[in-house]
Amino acid sequence: MLIDIRNLSFAYGHRTVISGLSHTINPGDFLVVKGKNGTGKSTLIKCLLGINSVKNGMIFFNGVDINYYRQWTKFGYISQDLDGFNYEYPLTVEELLKFSSVTKKSEQSYLRLLDNMGILEIINQNINSLSGGQLQRVFIVRAMLDNPEVLILDEPTASIDRQNTEFFYNTINELNKKGITVILITHTDAFEHMNYTHVLNMALDLTTSIETRQVEEGSESS
Ligand SMILES: Nc1ncnc2c1ncn2[C@@H]1O[C@H](COP(=O)(O)OP(=O)(O)O)[C@@H](O)[C@H]1O
Ligand SMILES: [Mg+2]
Repeated sequence: MLIDIRNLSFAYGHRTVISGLSHTINPGDFLVVKGKNGTGKSTLIKCLLGINSVKNGMIFFNGVDINYYRQWTKFGYISQDLDGFNYEYPLTVEELLKFSSVTKKSEQSYLRLLDNMGILEIINQNINSLSGGQLQRVFIVRAMLDNPEVLILDEPTASIDRQNTEFFYNTINELNKKGITVILITHTDAFEHMNYTHVLNMALDLTTSIETRQVEEGSESS
C-alpha cells in the first residue's frame, strides 16, 4: 500500500476535526474525499503532507511514518487557495516552473507538460495575468515536475469555469491512468466524470465512511 492512515485523530486546540480515521490508499487508486465545508478534508490533507503534525494515530507513506518522512517530491499538491492568487513578483510561467522544480528537471520536461496541458503558448506570460483555468493548469504542471507518486488536489474546480472543468477532469483521469495515485477533495457531488476508485465521506459529526466503486465489466472506456 502507498498510504496507510491508522486511527488518525486531529484537533485544533480543543476542537477535534478528525476522529479515529483509518484508510489505506493503494498505488493507482483515485480517492475522492467528499464532505461539506468544515468537515476536515483540508486538515486531513495537511496531515498527509506534514503541514499538520500527526500526534494521535499514524500515517505511513511507503511504510515510513509521515512524521519522519522527508521525500516530499513524491507528493504533488495543489492547495485550495488558488482563488485570488497573486504572486509577489511578476514572474513568467516559465520562470515559476524553473524555480519550482526541486530536482532541477530538464527544460524538456516542463515544455512537454505544458504542451500536454494545452498551455505551451502562455509560457512567457506573467502568471498574475492568467485566467483561473490557465493558472490551475500551470499549477498542475508544477505539481507534476518532480514526478510525484501522488497528486493531491484540494477543491480543484472552485476557481475554473465549466468548460475548463471538463478539460481538467480528462487531464486528471489521464494522469491516473498512467499510474499516478490521485486524491481529490471536493465539497460537491460533481465528480461523476472522474474515474475515481474510492470515495471517503467525511461528515460534520466526525463520522467517516468509505465507498469502493464497482466498475461494471466492459464499462471502462479505452
Ligand atoms: N489552522 C486552523 N486553526 C483552527 N481551526 C482550523 C484551522 N484550519 C481549519 N480549522 C477548522 O477546522 C475545521 C475543518 O477545516 P477544514 O479542514 O479546512 O475543512 P474542509 O476542508 O473540509 O472545509 C473547520 O471548522 C475550520 O474552521
Ligand atoms: Mg478545505
